[in-house]
Amino acid sequence: MKNKLDALRTEFLQQLTQAKDEEDLRQLEIKFLSRKGKLSEIMHGLKNLDLKLRQEIGKSANQLKIELQNKFQEASKLMKKSIVNNEYVDVTLPGINRPQGHLNPITLVQNELEDLFSSLGFMILDGPELESDYFNFTALNLGPDHPARDMQDTFYIDYPNRQGEYDLLMRTQTSPMQIRAMNKYGAPLRALIPGRCFRNEATDARHEHTFYQVEGMLIDKNINFAHLKSFLEIVGKRLFGSNTKLRMRPKFFPFVEPGNNGEYTCFLCGGKGCRVCKYTGWLETVGAGLIHPDVLRAGGIDPEIYSGLAFGFGLNRLAMLKYNINDVRLFNSGDPKFLEQF
Ligand code: PHE
Repeated sequence: MKNKLDALRTEFLQQLTQAKDEEDLRQLEIKFLSRKGKLSEIMHGLKNLDLKLRQEIGKSANQLKIELQNKFQEASKLMKKSIVNNEYVDVTLPGINRPQGHLNPITLVQNELEDLFSSLGFMILDGPELESDYFNFTALNLGPDHPARDMQDTFYIDYPNRQGEYDLLMRTQTSPMQIRAMNKYGAPLRALIPGRCFRNEATDARHEHTFYQVEGMLIDKNINFAHLKSFLEIVGKRLFGSNTKLRMRPKFFPFVEPGNNGEYTCFLCGGKGCRVCKYTGWLETVGAGLIHPDVLRAGGIDPEIYSGLAFGFGLNRLAMLKYNINDVRLFNSGDPKFLEQF
């Protein structure tokens, strides 16, 4: 009888260590510890023994029962814990595919320009979208009555600045950062400033009230038009391919002198003329020029010692050209069907 108890103990413990999951444990409990289990069977057999032996074996059997129940409880606690801690991982199961987000094409072009200009030694700066009239216009040679302000109507803020003046507006361009950067860093200076701009536009496929620009500026001794041209050429080749050519045509911006519009050979027809370039072979993409001496002065820099170049790309425009997007309103639409393509 005693041997039977020992054998049962060994068998139980062995099977307990082999139990892999809660179901195995349940089966083990039924087989050994339930009312019809092996231990009960042995205990039932006791009634045929004589009194003394019955008491002795009965005691051992009861002790064994308690021991096995304790061991069983311990094992099932451990099992629960490891399930909770996720230690039980079936590495052969297929993984869960999480949908991936996409970068807006504007961000893609911005990242590309930031990479390019960091490698050319430019700082990447950020500026306020809520700007003062002074930085957005006046300091850039666009005084209060300058007619060129009409080209950039914006959202004026009906709330006073810290001095109590009503002078706040949503910036129409990233150019105010030219002055802020000069004030903060002085000369020499190389900076690239991407950012969101606003204009009071009736929206259509080519116009948006909220759009992105990226401003570039370089101030040093003896900076001239050839430097400007080479930077614009580098950008064109980087974004649209090494065959891209640049053409510069005069254009008036009050904060540069001389000012011009940079145009690249059309990426679609390679300059032959097509629908995208309106059959001219060229695409207008950037306003640029040499920084006006008044603007350098407004930034605290002596134009007798330093000269500078500046350019401003429309990021929406660049992204539209690069990815052949035909409606500017798609960028802010938040439409996953649009964004998932990039
Ligand atoms: N800020 C000008 C615009 O929005 C572009 C520009 C930037 C022109 C820098 C010249 C120099 O149209």
